[in-house]
Amino acid sequence: MVQEQIEKKIADAYREKFPMSKQRHEKLINYIPGGATRSLSYFKPYPIHIDYGQGAYVYTHEGHKLLDVTNAYGAIVHGHGDPDVVKAVQEGIVKGSQYSTPTDGQYKLAKLLCERVPGFDKVRFLNSGTEATMFAMRTARAFTGRDKILKMSGGFHGTHDSVAASTKKNVITAGIPKGMTQDMLEVPFNDFDAMEKVIRENASDLAAVIMEPFLGAGGIVLPKQGYLEHARKLTKDHNVILIFDEIFSFRVNTGGCQKLWGITPDLTTVGKVVGGGLPIGVFGGKEEIMNIFCHENTATPLYHSGTFNGYETLMQAGYAALSKYDENAVGYINSLGDRFQKGLLESFVSNGLKIQSNQIGSLLNLHFYNESITTAEQVLCSEEQLHSLMHLSLLNKGIFNIPRGLFILSTSITENEIDHMVSKIDETLKELLPLIEEKYNHLLL
Ligand SMILES: Cc1ncc(COP(=O)(O)O)c(C=O)c1O
Repeated sequence: MVQEQIEKKIADAYREKFPMSKQRHEKLINYIPGGATRSLSYFKPYPIHIDYGQGAYVYTHEGHKLLDVTNAYGAIVHGHGDPDVVKAVQEGIVKGSQYSTPTDGQYKLAKLLCERVPGFDKVRFLNSGTEATMFAMRTARAFTGRDKILKMSGGFHGTHDSVAASTKKNVITAGIPKGMTQDMLEVPFNDFDAMEKVIRENASDLAAVIMEPFLGAGGIVLPKQGYLEHARKLTKDHNVILIFDEIFSFRVNTGGCQKLWGITPDLTTVGKVVGGGLPIGVFGGKEEIMNIFCHENTATPLYHSGTFNGYETLMQAGYAALSKYDENAVGYINSLGDRFQKGLLESFVSNGLKIQSNQIGSLLNLHFYNESITTAEQVLCSEEQLHSLMHLSLLNKGIFNIPRGLFILSTSITENEIDHMVSKIDETLKELLPLIEEKYNHLLL
């Protein structure tokens, strides 16, 4: 059978190329369930183990050089071991790493963020995107005195209890008490009427609408024309706080999608690239809302603390990365994304395939689906077997991307490397073509 032959060929090549990952996996599973400390880094037959990274590449223990287009799920934007980030970290550690007080690094990074992101008058730092959305939601609830929050299906906001619904099909989110989600409402992304209806019907209890400007982890699904404007108008009209979760989307512009598309939310979360590859979360927004945390403004400020908040070494590393992620850098990395998209679309047509690639800036998600994708539901219909095979096959060819077809670029990648990657994806599609013809012929032109 074609299917078995292709599966065997790709898996055998993977096992042959990465035997040291297998050895390490077999040791690690004795101490970490599944041999992976995050659900997403596990894949069959066993996850790849990386030894180190340098610039656009990561290196395996076998000595194989892989073009890294995971870039730490978007946290790394200048490639591995960026000299300015490394210098900031080295100097920071030598100076004592952190002091649990306000610092110059916090000032520099907060100022830069407030200058760049239209929705930031004031910000607060924490340690992950998950914490950032948790606190943005708490801030909205505390400020309005209301409990309900509306989110979009397919939107990913981290792993805290009230937003933990996964964007993946094959994982569960058991263990969350009903009470944690009873005040969460959900409508499909890009559905104008559903959003309007739920906001109208719940306005008096609704603290906030939280949304990504485009679905990121949910498949790079862009908003329909006017959708974000609709969200802004409805929330304003009904006195509901609009939160843009830009933890993933921030990198498409120096000031995130809100700057790109000219829609300013009341609260915003960012993370990932903002920490220069180190763990960070940031939430912030309008002064009148953020002053709820201010000891100088109220006798009883909203409590927000954390051992590692505003960790000085990280602040300096984040500033080093972000200050050089300027208009030029964003222009360059986005042009790489456009080139990648163009090459892929040509490859799809030349292989007679009706599959999709959703791209914005340096983020691109390939979908084994035969219509243009505007909803999270369509993304879930993308053929998972083809994603798994393509991912393994690309590793065999020296390309390291995210298993669900997601590619995240860095400024250390060149145009030649983009063209090389397109040619490797093209080869992989040719390899998969007999299987597509046999089992997935709805994907043929
Ligand atoms: C839009 C968005 N929000 C929140 C998060 C959670 O961030 P973290 O993984 O740092 O907790 C992510 C992570 O992928 C994200 O993409």
